[in-house]
Amino acid sequence: MLKIHVPLGGGYDVIIGHGLTEQAGRLLKPVLPGSLAAIVCDDTTRELFLEPLKASLNGAGIRTVEYAFPHGEQHKTLGTLGRLLSFFARNGLTRADAAIALGGGVTGDMTGFAAAVYQRGIPFVQVPTTLLSAVDASVGGKTAVDLPEGKNLAGAFHQPLAVLCDADTFATLPPETLRDGMAEAVKMGVLFDRSYFASLSNGIPEDLVPVVARSVELKRDVVLRDEFDRGERALLNLGHTFAHAIEKCMDFQMTHGHAVAVGTVMAARASEALGVAEEPVLDPVRAAMEANGLPVKADLPADRMLEAMLRDKKRAGAQITLVLPERIGKARLHPVGVGDLRGILEAAT
Ligand code: GLY
Repeated sequence: MLKIHVPLGGGYDVIIGHGLTEQAGRLLKPVLPGSLAAIVCDDTTRELFLEPLKASLNGAGIRTVEYAFPHGEQHKTLGTLGRLLSFFARNGLTRADAAIALGGGVTGDMTGFAAAVYQRGIPFVQVPTTLLSAVDASVGGKTAVDLPEGKNLAGAFHQPLAVLCDADTFATLPPETLRDGMAEAVKMGVLFDRSYFASLSNGIPEDLVPVVARSVELKRDVVLRDEFDRGERALLNLGHTFAHAIEKCMDFQMTHGHAVAVGTVMAARASEALGVAEEPVLDPVRAAMEANGLPVKADLPADRMLEAMLRDKKRAGAQITLVLPERIGKARLHPVGVGDLRGILEAAT
């Protein structure tokens, strides 16, 4: 079992290991403020993990109530959030209690946001059950729901009380979903750590505990320097500007992690084309993504991607900030005028 301390919010540990669901009561009891916890899950994680988590918490004297919503990003809405808040109220949750998010990014984002706004903020715990949420979304305090106008448009920064990552839950993931997480882990290597990148370049490692741990450390370090996403934290968007356009053009038929893999390869190609790269980055990035069974191109015309990028509601005026790798283990923010985007996309695809 590995523990990584994150000195944000009240300060919290990310605990990563095997068989942790069954130990949740013992591990979480010391950090939970009271004796009532609302476990929030979707229909999938309810079937797979709710009973053992509940049994462990109850065994440690923590009373639980449970709320399950239908799985999928299409349910990360104000409607589901409202129902969840009412559930908290009906069950008499107070600031002396806690919410526990049991699931992937959708569950974590929505539960975290509900915890941020219910009674102006109650404590919450992340129990990520996908590799993607373990290496990224469960750490750093970003919480949100989607609006009809775009993803994550209503949200808050709210750091968890603890993150409990049981790597055994990944064994239940379809291969495609596991690969989604690997794309984000490889991205972290490209951004910050050459030897971590090398360790992920031969395919999915047998033991994912060290993979999660290193990504969490790397993310923690950047979030510590820019908790509220006013500068450097945007580096974590490597591959995402292109990925969001790919997801939109493909009507979300390509999963997020797969789109991030393609987007990161595109960023590497753009970096070489723009002369930002100080060493070859395209070949190693492409090879690492391929070794993890991830796609490296989307076969979309530059024009369609441009249109999708220009429609992005989060775009800041006439500029888009790309994240470009300078070398493996180092990247920089690179603002470009929208007028230059077509040429960059043509070079990157
Ligand atoms: N997932 C990107 C961030 O936490 O900033």
